[in-house]
Amino acid sequence: MKNYTSTKSKILELLKSHHIISGETIAKNLKISRTAVWKHIKALQKKGYNIQSTPKGYILKNNHDLLTEEELSDLPYKVYFFQKVTSTMDIAKDLGEKGEEAIVIAETQTKGRGRMQRTWHSPSGGIWMSLLIRPSLSLKQAFLLTYIASLATAFAIEKITNIKVYLKWPNDVIYKLNKEEKKLAGILLEIKAEIDEIKYAVIGIGINVNNEISFLEPKAISLKEITGKIIQRKKIIKELIFTFNKLLRENPKEILNLWKEKSLTIGRNVKIIHPEGEIEGLALKLSEDGALILKTQQEKILKIYSGDCIHL
Ligand code: BTN
Repeated sequence: MKNYTSTKSKILELLKSHHIISGETIAKNLKISRTAVWKHIKALQKKGYNIQSTPKGYILKNNHDLLTEEELSDLPYKVYFFQKVTSTMDIAKDLGEKGEEAIVIAETQTKGRGRMQRTWHSPSGGIWMSLLIRPSLSLKQAFLLTYIASLATAFAIEKITNIKVYLKWPNDVIYKLNKEEKKLAGILLEIKAEIDEIKYAVIGIGINVNNEISFLEPKAISLKEITGKIIQRKKIIKELIFTFNKLLRENPKEILNLWKEKSLTIGRNVKIIHPEGEIEGLALKLSEDGALILKTQQEKILKIYSGDCIHL
């Protein structure tokens, strides 16, 4: 596992494990000069850390949900964190062209995008991230990435918040509020492939955590609204990445089984909307190549690869 721990992360570790710590002790511990310590402290303050400088040393005041590269330095990918971007998908694609693997996270997005060319509202407080990876999968197996990402997102939310969530085809994470299905998170997959090989995949994950939900999204809900608490986003991100990497090593059949178990779609009457039109039917199962198998009222069996799904 790669280690991306920087000097700033090490300084933060020291600050977090001491109520108060002098610049001299930090300098000795990390074998750097006191001026270097001071420069790093200034930079950390700029990133939003509330570090107070007193005659006896530095004190770090807790900020419950601060998201920075340093808070995520124990992840097995390089993390790029931005306050504001157009879309993390764009940044991740540029990095993909340069041969990297990385996680791109932003506090806000000005042009966040969802599936089917929809706008994705991305105000401060949510998790807006793109995971850039180079998986050894053929193009035909690329569909697995969205199933893996939605499962990992659902499992991570459940583990960190103790609420129960479900999946809706193709990849929405749903919370049931009374009988209503509310959207907590969504996945967007963009791929660069050559012949039959994936060069890189950018998996966009948007989770409503502590952000306000726009009145334009009546079917959305946030974890803060559900739990009444501020949730630490870094905990969800770490759990999600850990689970994603674990599921990536599973065999495809097991992924589809896990997905089916968590899904509200299989066994339901659904309407699928896609650019060519609408189809209604009973959702029977997922096929081995990732399609949703529908039985229409005329008893026709159809394989659906994309579209919006409405539970009837
Ligand atoms: C959907 O359900 O339609 C998918 C939504 C995906 C949103 C995420 S937020 C991070 C990444 N950047 C984007 O612009 N979109 C994805």
